Amino acid sequence: MHFDLTEEHLMIQKAAREFAQNELKPGVIDRDEHQKFPAEQIKKMAELGFMGMMVDPKYGGGGMDAVSYVLAMEEISKVDASCSVVMSVNNSLVCWGLETFGTEAQKQKYLVPLAKGEKIGAFCLSEPEAGSDATSQRTTAIDKGDHYILNGTKNWITNGSSASTYLVIAQTNVEAGHRGINALIVEKGVPGFTIGPKENKMGIRGSDTHSLMFDNVKVPKENRIGEDGFGFKFAMKTLSGGRIGIASQALGIASGAYELALAYSKERKAFGKEISQHQAIQFKLADMATKIEASRLLIFRAAWLKDNHMPMDKESAMAKVFASETAMWVTTEAVQVHGGYGYVKEYHVERLMRDAKITQIYEGTSEVQRIVISRALLA
Ligand code: CAA
Repeated sequence: MHFDLTEEHLMIQKAAREFAQNELKPGVIDRDEHQKFPAEQIKKMAELGFMGMMVDPKYGGGGMDAVSYVLAMEEISKVDASCSVVMSVNNSLVCWGLETFGTEAQKQKYLVPLAKGEKIGAFCLSEPEAGSDATSQRTTAIDKGDHYILNGTKNWITNGSSASTYLVIAQTNVEAGHRGINALIVEKGVPGFTIGPKENKMGIRGSDTHSLMFDNVKVPKENRIGEDGFGFKFAMKTLSGGRIGIASQALGIASGAYELALAYSKERKAFGKEISQHQAIQFKLADMATKIEASRLLIFRAAWLKDNHMPMDKESAMAKVFASETAMWVTTEAVQVHGGYGYVKEYHVERLMRDAKITQIYEGTSEVQRIVISRALLA
């Protein structure tokens, strides 16, 4: 066993770090405050190959491993978690789902522009009454021979208005329960598909989250992913890998806040010395660094399992729950280290604290991760 990163990993990490510090940091407070979608920044991320990192180059992707993706996600998330959620959904939910389960025609038509970052994708599972309880889909996709008729509402959809390609999970056969669910590719602009207003969120405010309404939307059969009834398993398998992305986002938010707290503690003086010289602060820094490192190791292990095509549902859930709870704790402590300055926007840590919260909620709440882990332990 060794823990070294390869030359290629280090190059990707450096490129992502420089991009985040030089291109994302300058406008991040303004984008957060005014809920501005980072369109220009996402375009540059696409040019750097960050929107389809793990996709086979023959489909326009970077052909990189999941460890590279984790490294890039961490660096982007240290600075702007709104950009990293767009990146995460596009890479690990939409591109991965299409590449793994899509037909060759679906890959050529939809995956290639998504992997190149020319288009953005959205993953549409959550509903007003089906968040954690994902089998309770109310959106219906009624089989009409050569097409489906889609009706219903999806909620809290990341990339809701910026996306062009939507993977929509819907119930075809209610009696069959989760085995009657399908995953359909829906294009923006088709008749009957409307996008609701943007959610005014606590954190990741630069990203665009919307509800989506489907009113008798006609979806051709060739847009179904996998066999009839495969939609729920498609969603679960995709989310399992997606959790590595959100865990990496949480890791980046935590390490960004820790780096700011460490630097600040060496500048700020109180009681005649730098606050880093007070044991109360030193212990906080020690605990932050330890929890961040533990998150990183859990995430690398899950990514390594994914790269080696080994089961990783339990490990990705462990990585996600631990990293997201670490992010919430570390960012709260980082605000504390900054004192009153931590509570104002210029110091960045209050935004990181707000951004951290969503990592405990989306792609499965902390409670859902514990369900996944405990079921694997008891199986
Ligand atoms: N891989 C393959 N199959 C799986 C699976 C996996 N990882 N997980 C479950 N399944 C299968 C089961 O084997 C079962 O199939 P069989 O009956 O054929 O054996 C079927 O799916 C149903 O599984 P469960 O009985 O375990 O289902 P459940 O109703 O008890 O739910 C749950 C389990 C883990 C709570 C699941 O509903 C879940 O993960 N919920 C959270 C959903 C979620 O993460 N939503 C996030 C929305 S997307 C998002 O947030 C993106 C964004 O914007 C950033």
